[in-house]
Amino acid sequence: MSSLYDRHKAVIPDWIALYYRDPIEITHGEGRHVWDAHGRKYLDFFGGILTTMTAHALPEVTKAVAEQAGRIIHSSTLYLNRPMVELAERVAGLSGIPDARVFFTTSGTEANDAALLLATTYRGSNQILAMRNSYHGRSFSTVGITGNRAWSPTGLSPLQTLYVHGGVRGRGPYAGLTDERFIEACVADLEDMLGQTRAGVAALIAEPIQGVGGFTSPPDGLYAAFRRVLDRHGILWISDEVQTGWGRTGEHFWGWQAHGQAGPPDVLTFAKGIGNGMSIGGVVARAEVMNCLDANSISTFGGSPITMAAGLANLSHLLEHDLQGNARRVGGLLIERVRAAAAGVAEVREVRGRGLMIGIELTEPGTDRANPDAAAAVLETARENGLLIGKGGGHDTSTLRIAPPLSLTVAEAEEGAAILEQSLRSL
Ligand SMILES: Cc1ncc(COP(=O)(O)O)c(C=O)c1O
Repeated sequence: MSSLYDRHKAVIPDWIALYYRDPIEITHGEGRHVWDAHGRKYLDFFGGILTTMTAHALPEVTKAVAEQAGRIIHSSTLYLNRPMVELAERVAGLSGIPDARVFFTTSGTEANDAALLLATTYRGSNQILAMRNSYHGRSFSTVGITGNRAWSPTGLSPLQTLYVHGGVRGRGPYAGLTDERFIEACVADLEDMLGQTRAGVAALIAEPIQGVGGFTSPPDGLYAAFRRVLDRHGILWISDEVQTGWGRTGEHFWGWQAHGQAGPPDVLTFAKGIGNGMSIGGVVARAEVMNCLDANSISTFGGSPITMAAGLANLSHLLEHDLQGNARRVGGLLIERVRAAAAGVAEVREVRGRGLMIGIELTEPGTDRANPDAAAAVLETARENGLLIGKGGGHDTSTLRIAPPLSLTVAEAEEGAAILEQSLRSL
């Protein structure tokens, strides 16, 4: 009988990459822990790519899903849907966007695709500004605004995308500048780019902290400075909060708030954590933008009662237990421990991040050359020692990514940091 791995390879596309030399099958989870099919227990510092936001098997979410499944799983957008309206009300209120409307999808890709449809229709233009090293999803429209070549398999696109500097503080031509000069240089680059475009550009889309790109971000205030330029041209700002939303960054509920002087974005997209694993994505925009489409549009599964029930229970738990505050406190401690663990490890170029979104960039010792082999080796050793982490970053995957559920305890942070230290030192 062939292994699950062999069977996987026989029917699943080659471009779906699995972690580890011996890929693992996760069979169940609880809190911040998961178990594989051999019964091995792991501390989970990646949450299924930042998606298990509160905790594995959170009783409130399980109960909400089971109860909703027992009543009705699907009714469609043709009928009133109480859990969808309730979650939309809460998300609209939390978004900071005035007179907000919320459209639910089933993924972050589809949320960004909807945001692009809105922005290009509203502005009557297919020109989009995106950040270098960005990732916005896997569809034909979103790979066309994804600056990270490892995740953008085609150059064909319905959009004309103009890539702007600024998403990566520590690399590129402006890396050596002070924060203030860095922002000035990026704004000058944006102005220069806009001076070369013909019709009005539709929107700028940006992740406040780049997720797949390796948890890189600009200095606080860059997007506020960009906003002033965009406003002069009537260009919309879309904040892709798929990884940074719901308090993960600790200091802020949304990533855009690190650029708070700008006020809220025109359009905000979200996904991943809100459903704690149930497939919820969505886009928030003020009514004027959201309602600019003059044809019908639906997402059959978007806003389904069962995912909305999960989202409501998950969001309530997050807010009632102040998990944003926990991300700030425990994340602050964790990044200190990670910095200490990385000290003196020649391959570590930088430890960066905010809240429970921490990256460790690895290079060949003494150089700026990416070191994907070292990243793969640490990932492997950490797993052997009972810790799951992720990786990502730039052209070569050489940044370790740490993003546990937001309920992480101090003891778990200490335990994970100790395993990371051991794994880094075994390089
Ligand atoms: C910032 C960002 N936007 C969009 C997406 C796409 O979301 P999904 O995989 O749910 O389609 C991702 C997924 O990793 C993401 O990190």
